[in-house]
Amino acid sequence: MVVGRRILITGGNIGIGFEAARQLLQRGHHVVITCRDAAKAQKAVDALSPVAKANGASVESALLDLSSFSSVRRGAAQLLSRHPKLDVLLCNAGVWSRDAGSTPLERTEDGQEVTLQVNHLGHFLLVHLMLPALLAAPAARVVVVSSELHRSATGAAASGAAASGGPPPLASPAWLTLLSAAGGGAAAATPSAPPRPTGFQMYCISKLYNLWFAYHLAALLPPTVKVNAVTPGWVPGTTLGRDMPWLARMAYQYLFPLLPGTTSVPEGGRRVVEVCVGEAEGEVTGAYFSRGARAESSPESHNRAAAEELWRLSEAAAGLQGPYVPTALPGAVTTGPATPPRAEGAAANAEGS
Ligand SMILES: NC(=O)c1ccc[n+]([C@@H]2O[C@H](COP(=O)([O-])OP(=O)(O)OC[C@H]3O[C@@H](n4cnc5c(N)ncnc54)[C@H](OP(=O)(O)O)[C@@H]3O)[C@@H](O)[C@H]2O)c1
Repeated sequence: MVVGRRILITGGNIGIGFEAARQLLQRGHHVVITCRDAAKAQKAVDALSPVAKANGASVESALLDLSSFSSVRRGAAQLLSRHPKLDVLLCNAGVWSRDAGSTPLERTEDGQEVTLQVNHLGHFLLVHLMLPALLAAPAARVVVVSSELHRSATGAAASGAAASGGPPPLASPAWLTLLSAAGGGAAAATPSAPPRPTGFQMYCISKLYNLWFAYHLAALLPPTVKVNAVTPGWVPGTTLGRDMPWLARMAYQYLFPLLPGTTSVPEGGRRVVEVCVGEAEGEVTGAYFSRGARAESSPESHNRAAAEELWRLSEAAAGLQGPYVPTALPGAVTTGPATPPRAEGAAANAEGS
């Protein structure tokens, strides 16, 4: 069993990310949790430190808010200077808004819809920025936490679907632009405004985007970096339902975990951990894992044209338009319509670059 891997976990202060950190520390790995709040980060590090100490491992935190591109850039620059080599990047953090579609759309400081930025765009940018560290490791992994709810984002995705008149199907990359401030439409909550996805639908779209991102990244990166996606199962014991009315929240957190078919937080964490460090899971790339085994994701998730379109739109949204560094990607697949990912150095990533 390999121990001592350097592992970065987004959203490691609570829920599945915290549990994954705990189990990885128990296995003797060095864990960095990212968190958007310094006090929460310290609390988590304090709780995890005894586990690290008992297992010859280490734990530290880094401040990083996925809903802010400048925060991701700042955090990544610090992480790269502290950790020039990274064995695993676990893209775990996520939000689920209970917005029913009847209130004005919540956007980030970057003008993006919040769920799509935290769950997809923030990770898209972070992975790009951390590529030099991942490529410096002899065998690295990017693990993206998706969900079975990606299956609810359905429909035939077509490039520029919005241009045809009606709203695009949920399985469309076009939502990234349509819901942004730059896209303009589908945002207001007035009777005359075009319909827009609810919070639940946006969550499902973001989890499909996680798969499009993971599969496309897997095809672009050299074989030293494996990219896979995983669902922990339905894990109601976490705080993902924090946006619910209080009674529903209590039921979700304390009653639902007793239902058959749900997954405990430790088991959900274990499923994610296996994809991060499991031996067999390290042999494959571009795969989806569910219930602890390889699984078939939805037909929509295999729409390569949509994945490429999402990639292009995400690059533009995250401001990744500069020249990339092909020499940083030895052996990368360079054919195909999409541009290979850019490995931007820490220096180039200072805020405002
Ligand atoms: N629970 C389930 O049933 C389930 C099922 C399938 C997939 N998943 C996926 O599992 C992952 C973890 O979810 P969870 O159930 O553990 O939920 P959780 O308990 O709510 O944890 C979410 C984590 O994401 C962090 N986060 C939220 N917004 C952030 C931001 N703007 N910047 C940085 N971090 C942010 C949270 O930090 P704060 O504490 O600061 O908010 C927290 O650490 C998510 O990707 C989710 O989609 C969960």
